[in-house]
Amino acid sequence: MPYLSPALNVMIAAARKAGRRLVRDFGELENLQVSRKGPADFVTTADERTEKILVEELSMARPGYGFLVEEAGHIEGRDKTHRFIIDPIDGTTNFMHGVPHFAISIGLEREGQLVSGLIFNPVTDEMFVAERGHGAFLNDRRLRVAARSKLADIVVGSGAPFLGRDGRDGFLKELDAVLAATSGIRRFGSAALDLAWVAAGRFDAFWERKLQPWDIAAGLLLVREAGGMVSDLAGRDQMLENGDVLAANDTLHRTLLTMIREAG
Ligand code: IPD
Ligand code: CA
Ligand code: CA
Repeated sequence: MPYLSPALNVMIAAARKAGRRLVRDFGELENLQVSRKGPADFVTTADERTEKILVEELSMARPGYGFLVEEAGHIEGRDKTHRFIIDPIDGTTNFMHGVPHFAISIGLEREGQLVSGLIFNPVTDEMFVAERGHGAFLNDRRLRVAARSKLADIVVGSGAPFLGRDGRDGFLKELDAVLAATSGIRRFGSAALDLAWVAAGRFDAFWERKLQPWDIAAGLLLVREAGGMVSDLAGRDQMLENGDVLAANDTLHRTLLTMIREAG
């Protein structure tokens, strides 16, 4: 059984409550897909509502903690030592298109260090959690990153810069190098779930550039607690500062770091 700190229990309860509503909203979307305007406004409302539920629930249980959330930004708390980092829906484009691959992501920092994290896909009811020093779990099952180290055997998750994002040229070079050497890449559209899937050994590795703290905070802890290695693409521990991430087991991490750096 996973060790769940009181704070992580509170985070789980908040995510489950917000998740129930999100699943209802996801069901509604089917009716909106056919309209010419599409479901964009509806999705924005669902996103904002989810964030509101999470902030309300967590503030009630942990008064004074600060927040860094995607929509509302920084919310200062009286308690300067604790901060929740939240993405209410990671994988919004999937959500909007009726693809059941999106998640609520909540990380908790204590004195600037990530101590608890969860990534919850409410459609599949997969709750990935991690507590610093106590391992990572999927529901009740302990997680380990995949042990594969032969490039020919691995599957790598990634994220591609789309309309309005920089870095397509560099990404295509990196993609070319990784594709040429591996069993393939996957671009599933939720960086939070990509990291959770590395922790679960479903993906052997994941890299993406220019992510936001709320996309990755919980996922970084999950991968580390599953025995994996995470860094930015210069090999440093500055993922939350610059948004670049590479996650894998130690051996693969070293190999892919060199490969991706040399490709760019
Ligand atoms: C996005 C997802 C996606 C990644 C994008 C993010 P959102 O977050 O994590 O996988 O490639 O860079 O912005 O917008 O769905 O919360
Ligand atoms: Ca996100
Ligand atoms: Ca989001």
